[in-house]
Amino acid sequence: MKVAVLGAAGGIGQALALLLKTQLPSGSELSLYDIAPVTPGVAVDLSHIPTPVKIKGFSGEDATPALEGADIVLISAGVARKPGMDRSDLFNVNAGIVRNLISQVAKACPAALIGIITNPVNTTVPIAAETLKKAGVYDKRKLFGISTLDIIRSNTFVAELKGLSPKDVEVRVIGGHSGVTILPLLSQLEGISFSDQEVADLTKRIQNAGTEVVEAKAGGGSATLSMGQAAARFGLSLVRALQGEKDVVECAYVEGDGEHTRFFAQPLLLGKQGLSEILPIGPLSAFEQQVLENMQDVLKKDIELGVKFVNQ
Ligand code: NAI
Repeated sequence: MKVAVLGAAGGIGQALALLLKTQLPSGSELSLYDIAPVTPGVAVDLSHIPTPVKIKGFSGEDATPALEGADIVLISAGVARKPGMDRSDLFNVNAGIVRNLISQVAKACPAALIGIITNPVNTTVPIAAETLKKAGVYDKRKLFGISTLDIIRSNTFVAELKGLSPKDVEVRVIGGHSGVTILPLLSQLEGISFSDQEVADLTKRIQNAGTEVVEAKAGGGSATLSMGQAAARFGLSLVRALQGEKDVVECAYVEGDGEHTRFFAQPLLLGKQGLSEILPIGPLSAFEQQVLENMQDVLKKDIELGVKFVNQ
């Protein structure tokens, strides 16, 4: 199993690489790439951790040496938010970075599973899809926008509020990965009940949790360590599914059956080809139904922006 991390010298990339170095199955290979010249050094640093995972680092303009033979590619390359910025403010820089890296993935490892972390995820995933399509190698089962951070945040906040162990809470989060498009399905948590006010407050906190971090870091960036953990969880789920483990379920932002918007975050069964089955989102409360309806236009516009960027 070879996993490539693109953007590996960044805040998320380094945290993710550390977690993968310590948690990938024995015999795996970890390949780090970033334009930053420090990247081979990050790999040397991590190589001193005694785990049976081989690691190599690459820098410069060409990602190909890092990508060759990769089964999974996780992309966190790009700029992050500063206070006052919305995820959509990152579009101008990150759209081009994602297009460029995906073009290289299309040539070097077209069958790899791809996880996109780079924001705005609502738009960078459609950019990746259209770029792969142009290259003639798009397989919608293999492209994922990583929205796992919304899930782990939801688990943490619910556990805090209800005095539970976070290990016992697993919230499904659907929609997209920005503001009003993030919809945690709190009504589906068995044995946990909330007042209407709690649901409204929790939903808002989960939707704005990224901004909570951006403001607390006061210009020093956005979530990196919790995102590293979220991306590692998702990446390791992909590894387990590729290795044939059954019943691996994660929510992620994928091109689904178009029931809601073309790209939509929803519960998925993962398998040897990546996405093996889209699972039903289940029953929604009236509040959740309303949030779902309200997000449609935002999500549609975010998707259109990405499609246009590639096809213009
Ligand atoms: P960072 O600035 O610490 O790291 C980004 C890295 O990307 C840098 O090392 C930079 O050299 C590298 N890079 C830039 N252009 C590149 C290129 N063309 N090829 C290869 N590497 C390149 O940023 P951080 O905090 O790691 O965030 C990365 C991205 O992840 C941002 O877009 C951020 O908004 C996004 N993010 C996504 C989350 C999610 O839930 N999906 C959560 C938090 C952040």
